[in-house]
Amino acid sequence: MTRAMKTSHITPRNPIFCALDTQDRDQATSWAARLTDSIGGIKLGLEFFNANGPKGVADVARACALPLFLDLKLHDIPNTVAGATKAIVNHLTPYMINVHAAGGGAMMTAAAKAAADTAAARGIIRPLVIGVTILTSLNDQDVAEIGMSGTASDQVRRLAALAQKSGLDGVVCSPHEAAMLRQDLGPDFKLITPGVRPHWASANDQKRVMTPGEAIAQGADYVVIGRPITHAEDQAAAAKRIVTELAA
Ligand code: C5P
Repeated sequence: MTRAMKTSHITPRNPIFCALDTQDRDQATSWAARLTDSIGGIKLGLEFFNANGPKGVADVARACALPLFLDLKLHDIPNTVAGATKAIVNHLTPYMINVHAAGGGAMMTAAAKAAADTAAARGIIRPLVIGVTILTSLNDQDVAEIGMSGTASDQVRRLAALAQKSGLDGVVCSPHEAAMLRQDLGPDFKLITPGVRPHWASANDQKRVMTPGEAIAQGADYVVIGRPITHAEDQAAAAKRIVTELAA
């Protein structure tokens, strides 16, 4: 089944997924509601999920009616990841979910199949299933320390190719890897980049950032941006400023 066959799914109006990184359901709900008209989607991750569970995620998603990127980075044996994927898609209607590509080809294929089968059984459009390659917090030395050969960039390239071969829809990567992966993997493979900062925002703890416009120019489909929006005095104004800069 192709995504275009069903029209009920909300697609992002712009490439910005805002990371709502908090344990506080009311805080996340308030951010989501304030950003409804300005961003493309919301990202909820392990911090929020472990504090509030699927019910909390559903509450926040309902508050904004925006596409949801549920960033739980699943990584386990194929049967368990398939089960976890099935549970997610049975209880929630995310636009994107993700798994660690290092879990291997069989695990990624099992996740993609579970997402498709469960969505079909529910009569909803399946979520995009995205692979996490190498965390951008790891450098070449860290990659060597966990026993991988070659540079972090070599690993990203290898794991992204495996993700594509295993039936995933795209990968999370650094904007610095986006051009390479776009060239390797073609125009339809989704590239999602965190590590993005408007020129007027603090880098916080992110290293080697690019602006949203630069990340998109490198081939990113979606940019994940958290604190420059959520920690702004006026969240909607910050998001709209980024949208305007992207259009310029
Ligand atoms: O606030 P900030 O824009 O730095 O938030 C970025 C978001 O993207 C956070 O939720 C962070 O966990 C996530 N992320 C990241 N780098 C990765 C993977 C995910 O910053 N490699």
